Amino acid sequence: MSGYIDLHCHPLPGVDDGCRTAEEGARVLSGLASIGFRVVVATPHVRCPTWDNTPETIAPARAALEAAMASIRGEGAPMPEFHTAAEHLFDDVSWERLISTAAMTFPGGRSALVELPYDNLPMKLELKVWRLAKSHKITTVIAHPERCAALARSDEKLADLLAAGAKLQLDLMSLTGAYGSSAREASRRWLAAGHYHLAASDAHKPSDVPKVAEAIEALRGLSGDSGVKKLLCDGPTSLVAV
Ligand SMILES: [Fe+2]
Repeated sequence: MSGYIDLHCHPLPGVDDGCRTAEEGARVLSGLASIGFRVVVATPHVRCPTWDNTPETIAPARAALEAAMASIRGEGAPMPEFHTAAEHLFDDVSWERLISTAAMTFPGGRSALVELPYDNLPMKLELKVWRLAKSHKITTVIAHPERCAALARSDEKLADLLAAGAKLQLDLMSLTGAYGSSAREASRRWLAAGHYHLAASDAHKPSDVPKVAEAIEALRGLSGDSGVKKLLCDGPTSLVAV
């Protein structure tokens, strides 16, 4: 199966904890293409003050990456369609950007990727998710909720988020235990419950690609071809214009 859409990875060089060089980033993208991804959206962290990424800060990284992509494409390497957005830590800074259209939303501007602090959930989280959808027409996509300890131990809190309109994005490598047993257990429980709307690689380096391929096969084993299609094709397609 192919035609997958990845709405979460870190190939832009030097802007966060992802790839360090453009050549590395191009190898991540080529690797993702080789395992079935048709479209990849880079989502550099916005986590201030450590990584205050904006369209201006990522522009040079994108230019360098696209040059490296062209170079290895010329050598015959497969390459996906490529876009950029961001992974916003859901703090006060990102909130102000999200409600003032300064956030880096997904292509089409109808949805945005956020990550939650791992230990403590933001105040009034579900109210903010609801307000973003209602007043600003932005669907909140929550990155790797299974890696958020405060959520992983509270299915009730998760239900509140889903009721507010949040869409849950499975980090594929959670299924295979790359982030520990708690994330692995929560991911499998919520997958079985049908809570995930989409899945993504969250690849940070070329060596992540074979682990993502392994995780896709784990997903197929748990949910079948239809589950893979739902989370890697249909779910992402419903959220972005690509
Ligand atoms: Fe990420």
